[in-house]
Amino acid sequence: MDKLVIEGGKPLSGTIVIQGAKNAALPILAASLLAEGTTTIDHVPDLLDIDVMLNILRELGCRAEHVGGTVVLDTETAHTSHVPESLMRQMRSSIFLMGPLLARFGETQVYQPGGCAIGERKIDLHLEGLKALGAEIEEIGNRIICRADKLQGADIHLSFPSVGATENIMMAAALAEGRTTISNAAREPEIQDLQHFLNAMGAKIMGAGTDTITVDGVQSLTPCRYKVIPDRIVAGTIMVAAAATRGQVTLQNTQPAHLSSLIHVLRRAGVQIVVDGDIIKVGCATRPKAVERIVTSPYPAFPTDLQSQVMVLLTLADGVSILKETIFEGRLKHVDELSRMGADIRVDMNAAFIRGVPRLYGATAEATDLRAGAALVIAGLAAQGKTVVEQIHHIDRGYEKIETMLSRLGARISRYAPVPNN
Ligand code: EPZ
Repeated sequence: MDKLVIEGGKPLSGTIVIQGAKNAALPILAASLLAEGTTTIDHVPDLLDIDVMLNILRELGCRAEHVGGTVVLDTETAHTSHVPESLMRQMRSSIFLMGPLLARFGETQVYQPGGCAIGERKIDLHLEGLKALGAEIEEIGNRIICRADKLQGADIHLSFPSVGATENIMMAAALAEGRTTISNAAREPEIQDLQHFLNAMGAKIMGAGTDTITVDGVQSLTPCRYKVIPDRIVAGTIMVAAAATRGQVTLQNTQPAHLSSLIHVLRRAGVQIVVDGDIIKVGCATRPKAVERIVTSPYPAFPTDLQSQVMVLLTLADGVSILKETIFEGRLKHVDELSRMGADIRVDMNAAFIRGVPRLYGATAEATDLRAGAALVIAGLAAQGKTVVEQIHHIDRGYEKIETMLSRLGARISRYAPVPNN
């Protein structure tokens, strides 16, 4: 498996253009199934997760090309609604194909996506939402068979503002008969992007970005061309890396409003942040200050997807910080790896108590999930000496050629592929 080798201690500097949002592109690609014909989606990043989604769509009979950041997807030829288990297991967020497949074909067969390093990843809210729309769901082992001759609009309340469940219900309801309301809906920017995409295809959806979304079902949708929003988590990762290396970085093609909770935390840590349109400038010439308490919660609160990255900054801060993870029960696995690099962190239940140290030291560390892997890269950039990050396929799921992106900012980082033993 590939690994990254990082020579730490060099401040990042320069300008970077942020890639399209993985977590917006994935549901939008799934939603393309709702319209027969050729849909074109721009600003789609070149990532492992995107490759998996395109392979699933090809398996369903679609024609899909991904060239230069643009996906051209012909769903006319889609001829099955059964998603192979092997592909479902490669990416658990393929579960939100259920909604579009059910709406288009009247039935679908998928598999329990299973848990991962960060948690159990339940899908009960997805299934409850689709049942509320009139779907009959049968579970045989880990196989899920879903049928609905015609989906009917319904009033649905989510007991938790699940991003994926909100997206699945929105997509299924778009072609249902009558009105659907989703209360306690997720409010993430990616939900808003999905609404904009569906409405560009002719759907009638309102309220994304608030906790109540209304969908008036229509008879059919038509293909369109659409550009995906910038990736707020990739942007946030770069911002933290700039601060942790005491660098000066300009980010272009951002939506600062999507990052207000991170900007607030970084400013509390003494990081200089200047926002100008779609540009964010980040600078940190002195040791960051501890941040008393950060709690991850659904958007617009502090995002779980930036928790591990910010933890690295706090390990170098002056003072004690508390970081509490409330979204995923297994998302503190990076603590052990950071401790091996000299961090002083104590975990109690889902809270990390971080006492800042003057420096981290390079080590060999293993990425356990996408964002923990990104955090280890930041730690390696800030640490004294050499760091080797292994299992970096996790990172490639969400970051487009991370070593190229960081090298452009002056980082001393290289990718090594294992020499095949011939
Ligand atoms: C999306 O995952 C993102 N993935 C995640 O990003 C992100 O961390 C998460 O939202 C929270 O913001 C994509 O958009 C592809 P949830 P999702 O449903 O939809 C529980 C990354 O690093 N839950 O909001 O799976 C669940 O167990 C990834 O890019 C249920 O209990 O997140 C979890 O504890 C990681 N029942 C919590 O809700 C359900 O039916 C949040 O899950 C669904 C979820």
